[in-house]
Amino acid sequence: MDHPRMTLISANWKMHLNHIEALELVQQLAERFRASTIPAGREVSIHPPFTCLAMVGATIAAERVPISLGAQTCHYADAGAHTGEVSAGMLAALKVRYVIAGHSERRARGETDQVVREKIDAIYRHTMQPILCVGETADERHRGVAEEKVRQQLAAALSGRPAELVAAAVIAYEPLWAIGTGATASPDDVANMCSAIRDELERVAGTHAAAMVRIQYGGSVTAETCEALLSGKDVDGFLIGGASLDAEQFSAIVIG
Ligand code: 13P
Repeated sequence: MDHPRMTLISANWKMHLNHIEALELVQQLAERFRASTIPAGREVSIHPPFTCLAMVGATIAAERVPISLGAQTCHYADAGAHTGEVSAGMLAALKVRYVIAGHSERRARGETDQVVREKIDAIYRHTMQPILCVGETADERHRGVAEEKVRQQLAAALSGRPAELVAAAVIAYEPLWAIGTGATASPDDVANMCSAIRDELERVAGTHAAAMVRIQYGGSVTAETCEALLSGKDVDGFLIGGASLDAEQFSAIVIG
């Protein structure tokens, strides 16, 4: 069934590319997205490291490329004695639109559900949109508790929020065992989990808000696997690591 949601394809560059390398990649993308335009109904976001956020933002604005600027995380406080951290307000001032919250690589280093929730509070305070990452470990999948884990992460981050804020969220389903491993989840498993996510969002914020939320899949997505993965009715895009560092691969995924 057709739905009104824009597909969102996001490039998570993680801790790759210095500002010179980043400029090169964003220029390559600008050339490709100008020549063969991004298909209607598709949106692209790029999430570079903090050190090149301003430059990537200025380049996509100057080149008039229809790419949204994203960040990989932020601090939950608006300001203060937090050495090395970057606030949501600082990102909003750079015209960042999407901020990833709760990526498993950060959860693994101690980012709790409570911290993820407070980061999402900060992202909304500064009128940006969170990309909330959820997903199970290989062990949780084998034990049959994958869906329970994902529902619990969603509820911890989003329950009790106004429906219009939940509607603006993006969810990235990223099973930990598929990240950077080359082992993509099967299209059926992705479709089923994304439907369970939509169901949990309905429980948390109602049918109308849940229908607005974009649900991405992330985990070893490539130009070869993307089409089949996107066939699930509740799959609305991708959060891409490795393949997003290569202009040709990434634009093949976006342009299709
Ligand atoms: P890969 O595409 O490299 O598996 O990374 C997925 C991811 O973690 C995106 O946030």
